Amino acid sequence: MEILEEQISNYLNAAHIRQNLKTDNWTLHYKESLDSTNNWAKCEAAGGAPEGSVYLADTQTAGKGSRGRAWGSPEGTSIAMSMVLRPQIELSRVPMVTLVLGLAAAEGIRAVSDIETSIKWPNDVVCDGRKLCGILTEMGADGKFIVPGIGVNVNVDHFSEELADKATSMYLLTGKRYDRDLVTAEILNYFDRYYRIFLQTGDLTGIMDQYQSILANRGKMVRVLLPENPFNGLATGIDRMGRLLVQREDNGKVEKIFAGEVSVRGIYGYV
Ligand code: BTN
Repeated sequence: MEILEEQISNYLNAAHIRQNLKTDNWTLHYKESLDSTNNWAKCEAAGGAPEGSVYLADTQTAGKGSRGRAWGSPEGTSIAMSMVLRPQIELSRVPMVTLVLGLAAAEGIRAVSDIETSIKWPNDVVCDGRKLCGILTEMGADGKFIVPGIGVNVNVDHFSEELADKATSMYLLTGKRYDRDLVTAEILNYFDRYYRIFLQTGDLTGIMDQYQSILANRGKMVRVLLPENPFNGLATGIDRMGRLLVQREDNGKVEKIFAGEVSVRGIYGYV
């Protein structure tokens, strides 16, 4: 069924998202405006919220990006969603969940649009070299829960001058506005599927091919920003632990880069 633009609500609607979910594994909570859905989810998780609790907001007043940066969630145009997960996995495997969510977001966006998303390792969803979606994963102090939070630029129609060459939105890419409830539901549906596959082995064995097939860095020169010894190399893919495999330009050795440890940039641009 085609959805007309005027039928798209200005607000996220938890009931409408729920109707489009394929399983009962997710319990949705919604607020119109708040500081950060990650803060909300962490607070609820510390109070005992179970795995599968999802926190959504229409607008964030202090959205958090990675590396201490701010993340904008302009009113009525984007998705801000955080979830409580309690996987029984070693601490070192937690960053892999972020890759799983990145893949789910890339696939969810593809499913509701014609956008050919790809992934800038480890978890930025990109198109045409610009970022469409970012993920920030935080952990409980006791290590008993993790909170991945995802921001998707859906109907955002402009970015500040500073971000304009790095960020994009589904609207800016296609000229169409999208129902954020459906985008949210699709991302959750894909995550549901990939997360269960991930839990079976505790690594990325079951989704690696899928991830690599849309890995934007694959076959590209990258700069690995190790604080002491940054180096350039050819990114060839990921391994089962989600590490980026980079063949060094200087000595040909293949380095395995852990997500969360270092930044990787394209040599000729952001990707
Ligand atoms: C990045 O910088 O790429 C990560 C951005 C993560 C943004 C999301 S929006 C929902 C959740 N709440 C936050 O405060 N941050 C994350």
